[in-house]
Amino acid sequence: MMSNIFQPFTQRNCTISNRIVCSPMCMYSATPDGKVTDWHIVHYGTRAAGRVGLLMIESTAVESRGRISMQDLGLWDDGQMEGIGKIVEFARSQGVKMGIQLGHAGRKAIVDEPIIAPSAIPFRETDRMPEAMTEQEINEVIEAFGNAARRAKEIGFDVVEVHAAHGYLIHQFLSPLSNKRTDKYGGDLLHRARLLKEIIQTVRANWGEELPLYVRVSAVDHHPDGLTIEDSVVLARMMKEWGVDLIDVSSGGNIPQPPPVVYPGYQVPFAEAIKKEAGISTGAVGLITTPEQAEEILGNQRADLVFLARELLRDPYWVVRAAQKRGLEYMGPNQYERAF
Ligand SMILES: Cc1cc2nc3c(=O)[nH]c(=O)nc-3n(C[C@H](O)[C@H](O)[C@H](O)COP(=O)(O)O)c2cc1C
Repeated sequence: MMSNIFQPFTQRNCTISNRIVCSPMCMYSATPDGKVTDWHIVHYGTRAAGRVGLLMIESTAVESRGRISMQDLGLWDDGQMEGIGKIVEFARSQGVKMGIQLGHAGRKAIVDEPIIAPSAIPFRETDRMPEAMTEQEINEVIEAFGNAARRAKEIGFDVVEVHAAHGYLIHQFLSPLSNKRTDKYGGDLLHRARLLKEIIQTVRANWGEELPLYVRVSAVDHHPDGLTIEDSVVLARMMKEWGVDLIDVSSGGNIPQPPPVVYPGYQVPFAEAIKKEAGISTGAVGLITTPEQAEEILGNQRADLVFLARELLRDPYWVVRAAQKRGLEYMGPNQYERAF
């Protein structure tokens, strides 16, 4: 059977063997100093044995005060590289490409340190008040993304993804709901995107030209005064110029309410609009659970990659089973062949 899922995908010097990506998912299982535990080795190892094309490590903090929780992984220190390296080494032995999402939680950080944001506006009225960042702090964060990208490169990752979605720091700058700055980092979309641009440039300089750089965005804020899909198409065109290889298209997260309605594939139209109107590769994510959905999205060229999150928690062998259903040769680990 012809399958879109099992078509390889090449960008720069990286060929992913199939179109399914294990979406970044925080495991809230790191040590207090942001290091890998046995949980990560087993969890990511299992998804590598399950043969996703690309396995993306969860949002990994570039600064200690940028952690979503005190149990987040970090890559702000060389001492955090060894544990992550073990995950990468095992995935490589399974023929699976590895990505890492680099993030900073900004005002949504739950840490003991003071928290920072573009403007002094808390996420919820009852949340901690963040400090509006000085230009020096902005430069420090940009440098922290660059240093984390250098470490990711040294560890041997195939893909690096900048987390600019879900109401975390970069999204806080992009969205007019949370960015009220009057300096060069605020104002119209071009200025609100300046932090993202400078982070992309620094990440690329440290990451090199050989391997792909993705950015995850929230295409819409699900709020009348927030980011719209039209803004996100304009932003995607800019990111293409800045050398981004793929936009991983999510939505929401910068206001405390969940999206008004969700249904299977509800974010796919955003990935499709960005792909078609900005002419850049995209990944679709959100309530995609069946191989038929993935085939439809890829076959109709609505996105280039399909990111699965919760479905891969329920079934790490989703890809192996999808291949089996399509009558393709067994592709799982030898150790498990008798089960399929
Ligand atoms: C446990 C869990 C942790 C998550 N952590 C992250 C994360 O670190 N970074 C991110 O961009 N999205 C994160 N997400 C969102 C997922 O990557 C994905 O976008 C979302 O779950 C929708 O996809 P799904 O319907 O396939 O689960 C997380 C989701 C879950 C369930």
